[in-house]
Amino acid sequence: MTSILPNRMSRFGKVLFDRATGAAAEMESAKSVCALLGEIYEPGMRVLDVGCGAGHYLRSFRQRIDPGIDYSGIDLTAHFIDLARKAFPEVETFAVGDVCDLEFTNNSFDVVLCMNVIPNLAPPPTRAIAELLRVSSKYVIIRSLFADMTYLIRELLSDAEEDSALIAADGSVAGDRYLYNNMYSENYIRSIIREIDSTTTIRIESDTSAVPIDNRGELGACGTRSEAGLQIAGQLVLDWRFIVLSKNGDVTT
Ligand SMILES: C[S@@+](CC[C@H](N)C(=O)[O-])C[C@H]1O[C@@H](n2cnc3c(N)ncnc32)[C@H](O)[C@@H]1O
Repeated sequence: MTSILPNRMSRFGKVLFDRATGAAAEMESAKSVCALLGEIYEPGMRVLDVGCGAGHYLRSFRQRIDPGIDYSGIDLTAHFIDLARKAFPEVETFAVGDVCDLEFTNNSFDVVLCMNVIPNLAPPPTRAIAELLRVSSKYVIIRSLFADMTYLIRELLSDAEEDSALIAADGSVAGDRYLYNNMYSENYIRSIIREIDSTTTIRIESDTSAVPIDNRGELGACGTRSEAGLQIAGQLVLDWRFIVLSKNGDVTT
């Protein structure tokens, strides 16, 4: 079970909200997903953003794709959905929801996005990806972490300066306070998508958009920096890639 610590939630929520209102800079990944969305978007398409945070991608989509885009956003964290509603009071299509159990009928949206959420889910990601594909009639775009091998990574969460107490002498982990930051191999992701729907075409491409940033001042230890085009969190090099899925077979594999 994953639970975000209250202080991390409010600090991260502020960052998401500032991005949504334009008080903070647009994320590079928002620009990258706009480039991908721009390749397939047609006016009138219904777009769902799963794990939308405070809805900051909507700001980018309105500026870069279509000011009248038909956008819905869902997130498991009620606080982030409150912030999304505050940032975009005119949007009635924000809701609390779980990517593993989406409350939409099959094919409800033309494009379903899930940006930077899969690494944080308890493995395996099969159920989440199946749900994203189920509610989409045409495309799914996912941004996730990859590695040459699959690594399941749990960050133990602690408010204390000293977190050695989180692991007991017998190796057990105290409580349920951890956050996954899993990295999957491309073979693994391709095989589970094949299992879900063998007719879906799959394109996987690196997101090389990392520009020099360092938000460790803002976000503390959970902040990141980038060097040589790669995002780095603590000691982890984050190999972000886009997975573009098409149910119509018009995406090159
Ligand atoms: C790293 S943030 C990414 C936010 C935004 N998509 C972005 O790229 O900036 C991960 C988001 O996923 C949400 N989330 C985590 N588990 C989820 C789940 N099971 N269903 C829906 N959203 C979830 C979190 O609340 C958080 O807003």
